[in-house]
Amino acid sequence: MSESIKDLLNGNVSWVNNTLRHTPDFFNKLATGQSPKFLWIGCADSRVPATEITNALPGSIFVQRNIANIVVHTDSNLLSVVNYAVKVLKVKHIIVCGHYGCGGVQAAMSNDNFGFLDNWLMHIKDVYRMHKSELDSIDDEGKRMDRYVELNIIEQVNNLAAVSFIQEEWDDGEFPHIHGWVYSLKDGLLRDLDVSINSHDELDQVYQYKKK
Ligand code: CO
Repeated sequence: MSESIKDLLNGNVSWVNNTLRHTPDFFNKLATGQSPKFLWIGCADSRVPATEITNALPGSIFVQRNIANIVVHTDSNLLSVVNYAVKVLKVKHIIVCGHYGCGGVQAAMSNDNFGFLDNWLMHIKDVYRMHKSELDSIDDEGKRMDRYVELNIIEQVNNLAAVSFIQEEWDDGEFPHIHGWVYSLKDGLLRDLDVSINSHDELDQVYQYKKK
């Protein structure tokens, strides 16, 4: 594990050398542009890096990460990334990837005060309120937390599907498909929650925009 800032810079040089040894034209090719097929919305947690855990190379995944992989409709940073990804890059798949043991979800499940962060955690608390009866019925705290992580991912998939310009893309064709995945820190495996949304019709009618 890199411990000092110099380790990171030295690590970069090693990575460049290794990469060039295996693929001499790697950087020449990447420098001409990107055409990733995937947008990844994940947690900022340092243990869940999109490309490493999917064995994907630079250039394959457009990435946005924040605490607890939240999609908020007033987050212009996230919306700009999503807009560019679907309108310009024309990504085919958007993956919302959460992870068990997520500190953000754990914090939201507690009644502790986290100062400034409480404003962000509020969005995760909203998910608890929406699914209160299901979550309250799970006695085991670890299992309740795991389910809360999953429900948070599902709600963020729904939030993405509600974005007007994503629905516009569906008017023109079949993409993007929005997927919900959960990652386990314990074994390194990703699991598809099978909650993908690919059209207006799969969305609560309240959020459906008229087709143009
Ligand atoms: Co997390």
